[in-house]
Amino acid sequence: RKARNRMFIEMHAEASSFFQRNLKMAAGDVALRYLHDRGTTRDVIEKFGLGYSPDDWHGLDNYLKSKGRNQEDGVEAGLLSSNDKGNVYDRFRGRLIFPIQDLSGKVIAFGGRIITDGEPKYLNSSDTPIYKKGEHLYGLNLARSTMTRSKRAILTEGYMDVITLHQFGYTDSCGVLGTALTSDQVKRVAGFCSRIDLIFDGDEAGRKAALKSSRMILQHGVACNVILMPDGEDVDSLLQEQGTEGLEQCMNAAPDGLQFCMNTLRASFAPRDIVAWAKNFLSELSDPSLRAYYLPRLASGLGLSEVDFRRDAGVSAPPRNTHQPPRQ
Ligand code: CTP
Ligand code: MN
Ligand code: MN
Ligand code: MN
Ligand code: MN
Repeated sequence: RKARNRMFIEMHAEASSFFQRNLKMAAGDVALRYLHDRGTTRDVIEKFGLGYSPDDWHGLDNYLKSKGRNQEDGVEAGLLSSNDKGNVYDRFRGRLIFPIQDLSGKVIAFGGRIITDGEPKYLNSSDTPIYKKGEHLYGLNLARSTMTRSKRAILTEGYMDVITLHQFGYTDSCGVLGTALTSDQVKRVAGFCSRIDLIFDGDEAGRKAALKSSRMILQHGVACNVILMPDGEDVDSLLQEQGTEGLEQCMNAAPDGLQFCMNTLRASFAPRDIVAWAKNFLSELSDPSLRAYYLPRLASGLGLSEVDFRRDAGVSAPPRNTHQPPRQ
């Protein structure tokens, strides 16, 4: 199995260099022009190893064949697809390619964005023996050294959000890629920093993700700020339109995670439901010192005394002398 995984990694390296080479050839002009129109610079195109999958059913298929790979392995690696007739063809066709790397920089999966109109906008590798969605973060390998120094991690939604953040100097940024933030991912990032800045799109999906994600981070005892983009913007579009000044303004106005959760809940729920949310939040904490830390803060967020909150929520008093703050 180890040898097999190594082979899958080699195939991804081959595929990645194939895609990168294609971006620089005539066929890739359309993708290069697309990136140029979005304001993406050569530096980050190189840094993130962006590529292009030709609009061809057998581009990568033939390339892998020339490297002596067999098609079934290509299918199992998630690089090729096969139909019910058993015909094998390229999974990624006519797309801008984003290689997804593990912490050591090995390519383990791809995302591909359609360049003209069409569906789906992004096509991603499915789970394979070397890639499980929700375990990895896009760009973490490129961000970890800055994170370790700045003690902060920026966590955002999409491929281009991460790339544009790096382009504008926020090199401690990585991405969750559309899926809900997982406990695994939080633990992974928290290993490199003491605070997470969440940046989410100014749309319904972004606001929903912001509440779930900040809740999850707080439960890990990690401090966070929540930066929601203005309506209709994401951090990529904001930076390209307004530069770092625009983002700094949003960052300076950002609530911390607990404030954000309270504000958001207050905007759409009755006090009783918020108490239930808070009770549930506390019940999922296994660390008593974290429970003791959040209890008075949740109470005050609800405008209740600690005693009233404990009675309403039906939670017992925390043990004394355990009021440690989350990791700072
Ligand atoms: N996503 C996905 N499949 C989709 C749509 C989105 O995997 N059909 C993931 C991608 O990782 C995407 C992220 O969710 O980057 C955020 O989605 P969205 O905000 O819709 O896309 P953007 O990243 O803003 O895409 P772009 O700027 O290229 O239009
Ligand atoms: Mn062909
Ligand atoms: Mn969005
Ligand atoms: Mn976008
Ligand atoms: Mn977006």
